[in-house]
Amino acid sequence: MQSLTVEEAITSRKSVRAFTKEMVPKDTIAKLLNIASRAPSGTNTQPWKVYVLEGKVLEDLCTKVCDAYDSIAANPELAKEYQAGYTYYPTKWFSPYIDRRRENGWSLYGLLGITKGDKDRMHVQHRKNFQAFGAPVCLFFTIDKELGKGSMLDYGMFLQNLMVAARGEGLDTCPQAAWNDYSKIILPMIGAQDNEMLVCGMALGYVDKADIVNTFHTPRVSSEEFTTWLS
Ligand SMILES: Cc1cc2nc3c(=O)[nH]c(=O)nc-3n(C[C@H](O)[C@H](O)[C@H](O)COP(=O)(O)O)c2cc1C
Repeated sequence: MQSLTVEEAITSRKSVRAFTKEMVPKDTIAKLLNIASRAPSGTNTQPWKVYVLEGKVLEDLCTKVCDAYDSIAANPELAKEYQAGYTYYPTKWFSPYIDRRRENGWSLYGLLGITKGDKDRMHVQHRKNFQAFGAPVCLFFTIDKELGKGSMLDYGMFLQNLMVAARGEGLDTCPQAAWNDYSKIILPMIGAQDNEMLVCGMALGYVDKADIVNTFHTPRVSSEEFTTWLS
């Protein structure tokens, strides 16, 4: 495989939502995690803890979480029983973030031919999160609950390193906060201790180029819009 420049590795990363079944060699996963661990962290605290799930263990976890997700669709009251360890999004949305969020969601659903109100198909699409989008590997990341907000910043750098390094190996990823609501199922299954909180999951594998979902390309606000130059 031809090696990528740093720019190519960064700009070719995107969230892939359909993977082939091709296995990822263990050595490659270990290599990626070692590269990712070169991320900086405040006073070199390295707050990351990673669980690599494949095969039967991943299958069992997917089944349990899909069951929980389906049970909520059947009885929305059950949603109260499942809670993420931290709030990723604001409780009250506002502009311009809500607009970008809506655009993102509707563009993806639009591409898949899912229209507003088509709850069944939305359910099926969102459920694919809990099958790791068919990836042969799903990584779960935890952090010690006692650590501060800054450690989440460190974690983001680690995760981005991992996703960019994956590109260098011809692999793709989808970071997944969707799993977080099901921490209560996931944490005991992966053998996490009481002090650990689920940061997110990440599907890892080879892109399924035949699936239309992977033609989804997200826009970005130009740097001119978010940068103030002062001199
Ligand atoms: C921490 C994090 C969690 C995410 N969780 C999900 C998720 O649960 N499911 C999903 O389909 N995409 C998820 N995404 C992907 C975002 O929707 C995606 O990054 C964004 O739309 C930009 O698209 P791109 O990654 O293709 O550039 C997540 C991204 C991040 C950074």
